[in-house]
Amino acid sequence: MRIIGCCKQVFIAFLCIHFCCTAGQTNFQDAAVLKSLTDGWKNLPHSWTGEDPCGKRWEGITCSKSRIVTITLASMDLTGQLTGDLESLSELQILDLSYNKGITGSLPPSIGKLSKLTTLILLGCGFSGSIPNSVGSLKKLVYLSLNSNRFTGEVPASIGSLRQLYWLDLSDNQLTGSIPVSDGSKPGLDLLVNTKHFHFGKNRLSGEIPRNLFNSNMTLIHVLFDNNRLTGSIPESLGLVHTLQAVRFDRNLLSGAVPPNLNDLIGVSELMLSNNALTGPVPNLTGMVSLISVDLSNNSFEATTVPHWFSALKSLKTVIMERTGLEGLLPSGFFSIPQLETVILKSNQLNGTLDIGGSSSQLLKFIDLQNNSISNVKLDPGKNYTLMLSDNPFCQKSLVASPYCNKNLGSSSYKTPVFCVTPKCASGQMSSPTCKCAYPYTGTFVLRAPSFSTLGNDAYFTELQLSLLQFFVDISLPVDSVSLSNAAMDSFGYLNMHLAFFPAKEVHFNRTAVSTLAFVLSNQTYTPKKQFKPYVFFADNYTPFAGSKKPSHIGAIIGAVMGVSILLLLSICAAGYAFSQKKRAEKANQQANPFVSWDSQGTSGDVPKLKGARFFTFDEVQKSTNNFSEINNVGSGGYGKVYRGVLTDGEIVAIKRSQQGSMQGSREFKNEIELLSRVHHKNLVKLIGFCFDHGEQMLVYEFIPNGTLLDSLSGKSGIELDWIRRLKVALGSARGLQYLHELADPPIIHRDIKSNNILLDERLTAKVADFGLSRLFGDTDKGYVTTQVKGTMGYLDPEYFMTNQLTDKSDIFGFGVVLLEMLTARKPIQQGKFIVKVMKETVDKSKDLYNLGELIDPMLLSSSNTLLGFEKFVDLTLKCVEEFGVDRPSTGEVVKELEIIMQLAGFNPDTESTTTSQSYQGSNTKSFSHPYSDDSLV
Ligand SMILES: *[C@@H]1O[C@H](CO)[C@@H](O)[C@H](O)[C@H]1NC(C)=O
Ligand SMILES: *[C@@H]1O[C@H](CO)[C@@H](O)[C@H](O)[C@H]1NC(C)=O
Ligand SMILES: *[C@@H]1O[C@H](CO)[C@@H](O)[C@H](O)[C@H]1NC(C)=O
Ligand SMILES: *[C@@H]1O[C@H](CO)[C@@H](O)[C@H](O)[C@H]1NC(C)=O
Ligand SMILES: *[C@@H]1O[C@H](CO)[C@@H](O)[C@H](O)[C@H]1NC(C)=O
Ligand SMILES: *[C@@H]1O[C@H](CO)[C@@H](O)[C@H](O)[C@H]1NC(C)=O
Repeated sequence: MRIIGCCKQVFIAFLCIHFCCTAGQTNFQDAAVLKSLTDGWKNLPHSWTGEDPCGKRWEGITCSKSRIVTITLASMDLTGQLTGDLESLSELQILDLSYNKGITGSLPPSIGKLSKLTTLILLGCGFSGSIPNSVGSLKKLVYLSLNSNRFTGEVPASIGSLRQLYWLDLSDNQLTGSIPVSDGSKPGLDLLVNTKHFHFGKNRLSGEIPRNLFNSNMTLIHVLFDNNRLTGSIPESLGLVHTLQAVRFDRNLLSGAVPPNLNDLIGVSELMLSNNALTGPVPNLTGMVSLISVDLSNNSFEATTVPHWFSALKSLKTVIMERTGLEGLLPSGFFSIPQLETVILKSNQLNGTLDIGGSSSQLLKFIDLQNNSISNVKLDPGKNYTLMLSDNPFCQKSLVASPYCNKNLGSSSYKTPVFCVTPKCASGQMSSPTCKCAYPYTGTFVLRAPSFSTLGNDAYFTELQLSLLQFFVDISLPVDSVSLSNAAMDSFGYLNMHLAFFPAKEVHFNRTAVSTLAFVLSNQTYTPKKQFKPYVFFADNYTPFAGSKKPSHIGAIIGAVMGVSILLLLSICAAGYAFSQKKRAEKANQQANPFVSWDSQGTSGDVPKLKGARFFTFDEVQKSTNNFSEINNVGSGGYGKVYRGVLTDGEIVAIKRSQQGSMQGSREFKNEIELLSRVHHKNLVKLIGFCFDHGEQMLVYEFIPNGTLLDSLSGKSGIELDWIRRLKVALGSARGLQYLHELADPPIIHRDIKSNNILLDERLTAKVADFGLSRLFGDTDKGYVTTQVKGTMGYLDPEYFMTNQLTDKSDIFGFGVVLLEMLTARKPIQQGKFIVKVMKETVDKSKDLYNLGELIDPMLLSSSNTLLGFEKFVDLTLKCVEEFGVDRPSTGEVVKELEIIMQLAGFNPDTESTTTSQSYQGSNTKSFSHPYSDDSLV
């Protein structure tokens, strides 16, 4: 004994020396345990080298005071077993190993020693064996998710001791036995009065549902015992849990009558009792006023006419009573339930004339009355829904083939629409909804109690997909887009759909991003709207990590070779360009020698370094503008005048001619044209060249034909800007600004963002103009530039005005004012009132249109389309005009938000090419067919 004890001490001392020397910031025992625990695991992150998980920041590990507190390794394609030593990680709070199908074996009883554990998520792994009783010792546990493994044996009664438990998910295993309840000597699930979620679906639980499983002290929201082998009747005690929202006992062997007090559950929105052997009368659900979806199919209820109480339930969307013994006439008021979308009353004895009635629900999409005794139909001609009537006398007698007599109907064909040209992607990669090739993180999203119908209801999918994207953007996960497809109900009564999340930056997510993505879904941090809850996500293996195959080396080599050749090409081009530039400069020098006077101090008399801009002689400019004739004068300002000109090659240009007195020094002029020539973006007005000759300073820009945004908003240009066009203009100018702020090198602050500086081309593409006042930023460490206040009253950032410190957030303020102009078509300062102030005083988010009805441009309100995304647009505008720069969004955030609003309004933010000032087309998806798609304006 003593020898062994001594050895152990020596061993620990050895470990101590070993780790004290090398383990750096990690508690030596934690480091050793983690190593032994994962010994033999495959596919561990590459950062897992050395012996200092905390100090070396191993991916998936976080520490506090050198102790390991979280292990999140979801979706890493790990293989291995969870053995032994786990208990020594005594500070562990979160363990998430979800979606690693290769983690197998049993869950060791020692897990019960992790007394600090709050979150245990092993969803979608390969665990087998029974769930150890010791999980009942994890007194701090809040979140227990062992679903979708191969656990066998009984539900441990000890789980009843987990008084803090919020989420209990054991579904989709092979659990047997009955549901444990307390009996004085042992705990049971009835004691879980703080738990909100009982998810036990898809197991093999048997026996009767204990009468005391439910009590009035419980606070359950979701009770899902579907797809088991439960017998006996539904206990009356269920009716005591008034907090319930979703109840599923479908697909069991339940019998007896439904207890009448179920009617007391006024919060339940989904009730599924189908596929049992329930008897007695069809339950009276008049009291379930929140009911959205009900399925009572395939039971043995007493034959009855369609109950009248249905019509009293105003929120019903889905009624499913297949083979339920319904007979007689379907009352004509039935279809006027205001939210009704889906009615499936297949295989009953409904007879007589089906009268859908003139007042049927506007939302009605799908009526399945196959296999009844209906002999006639009276339809509501104004509506568009699918009606299925095969195997009714109506179809037998009908001489003409009726479209309602077909039998088969495909499942939902929804797929995230793609508006751009799909590129051909390398093997393993996929094209995203924004047409970029990448390795998406994919999986199946399962709605466990869907309350809406999938057919013809694309709007739900769009909403879900956008809400996911919005969530990821909000928590700064690098997700570029989300694609949703293949939505279909399965035989368990779950709605499955395929999701793909595309990376924003690289072609694939890194491990940190993947495990974070997986965790926010496995831990339900992402909470969608009620109709999508509860959900569960099953990730596919993420291919870039799969089988530890890194993205192909050959690909990398080819990439590198291509990279080198592109570099080579570029440098050849650059050399050629420099040469031609030099030639041109020499030629220019010979012609008019414009650079002789380039710098009066003679310190930088070199040729300006221009990218793509050219030099014009005074004569050329004079000729192109017909000697600066008044007819060609298209604008003027403090700096001078702007002329329209036609070059010898026919190109139309705008020439900005500085007047005497507003000219800059030659060095400033040179800096400016160097700066302007570097800026190339489709939402920025392009500099074509300059003239520095005859003592003149002129800038030559591309000509933008449709005038300024101000011209359009004020009605001067005659271009009618409806809501969608305004959104497009907003997004375009935001993108131009984003280029200046984030992509130009060095970054540029515009300093004079206003509606008069946003031009519209013939396709109504917004072009930000006039960086005359622009200043580079980024050349200070502080992130701001101190300058004399310049800009235009009404658009001036109050913070800049007070402090003289100019940042990119000053442009955001000006941009916010432009957004306000788009909403109201008012000038920023009108009759002495500052629109920003008026807006802030008027807005009331509890009212219709945020109470802005009076302020909004009447033209927007008069058009027949709804202002989709209006609230979000106002929210964004208000953020942009916040008093302090730090509270305003970045340009990137503004762009992203506007993209989301565009999508909400049913338009793809990247379809510019089909749009002209004459007409534009909306997306062609049904749900988005836009009332404006055939407008002809101007
Ligand atoms: C509900 O809680 C109260 C107070 O804790 C307790 O007295 C009562 O017995 C509980 N009722 C049930 C049905 O468990
Ligand atoms: C259904 O229950 C309501 C009370 O919740 C009652 O007023 C109504 O008469 C019942 N209907 C039938 C058909 O039993
Ligand atoms: C419809 O069915 C009801 C009940 O089965 C029956 O009483 C009635 O006569 C039937 N009506 C017709 C038109 O067949
Ligand atoms: C009704 O919907 C179908 C398919 O969803 C479509 O082809 C048809 O044009 C629609 N009819 C009307 C009148 O809207
Ligand atoms: C992984 O990606 C995230 C987000 O793009 C980034 O912040 C992080 O630095 C990356 N981690 C590693 C180890 O590259
Ligand atoms: C896990 O999700 C819950 C909501 O389900 C949230 O309150 C909690 O903060 C999340 N945990 C972590 C570590 O993000």
